[in-house]
Amino acid sequence: MYVAKGSPQDAREIAKLYCAAFPESVELFFGTKPSDKLLNLLELTFLLVFYSGGEALLVKNEAGSIYGYCLYRSAREASANRSLRKMLTVLPKMASKTSLAEIGKLLHNQLIMATSTKRTKKSARPQAQIISIAICPTCQGQGVGTLLFRSVLNDLEPYSVGLNVRADNPAARRLYAKTGFQECGTTSDLSGKWIMLVK
Ligand SMILES: CC(C)(COP(=O)(O)OP(=O)(O)OC[C@H]1O[C@@H](n2cnc3c(N)ncnc32)[C@H](O)[C@@H]1OP(=O)(O)O)[C@@H](O)C(=O)NCCC(=O)NCCS
Repeated sequence: MYVAKGSPQDAREIAKLYCAAFPESVELFFGTKPSDKLLNLLELTFLLVFYSGGEALLVKNEAGSIYGYCLYRSAREASANRSLRKMLTVLPKMASKTSLAEIGKLLHNQLIMATSTKRTKKSARPQAQIISIAICPTCQGQGVGTLLFRSVLNDLEPYSVGLNVRADNPAARRLYAKTGFQECGTTSDLSGKWIMLVK
């Protein structure tokens, strides 16, 4: 296995991995959506992440199959990589594939998060943000996440990095603690409590 840079061409594989690694979130927000439609919507969502300046590192095997991804955004790259034209092609497609009930739930979620955020440490906003990380369920617990995440942190040097983790996610919390992240606040959404971390 090796770590490689991801690109918009990887958005569909990232979407598949997301579905496998976050079944509770998929069930909570898109429980009634047929899986092919869900994959199409998530593919567009990850395309939007790339087009809005996000970056990705992937864990691949020799055959090129993707076993893990980490999406992140840094102040340095975001404006250089952003393509407003591409974002504007993706957004209407996303809207047409999202039901009003799903939009309502996602907005409700954002509102809860915005109103429940409490910072315990007075620190400047991190210069980089981890958007999402996942390892395919059959490869979890074997050090793959550590390999990937250390590569991402290396890529983000010397920036301060922020992320949110679910309070009931021991594997992720251990990964972030051992790579030097510290708690700087809490927030909540429809799925429960989140810990805000910074390094
Ligand atoms: C979180 C995740 C990315 C970690 O990747 P991973 O490859 O499974 O993690 P690693 O094998 O590198 O282990 C990382 C650390 O967590 C520990 N760990 C792994 N599974 C654990 C568990 N179930 N409970 C407690 N600790 C656990 C490991 O022992 C290791 O710590 P150590 O080096 O001190 O022994 C992966 O489990 C995953 O994709 N989970 C589902 C998606 C997710 O939760 N993403 C994070 C969202 S914030």
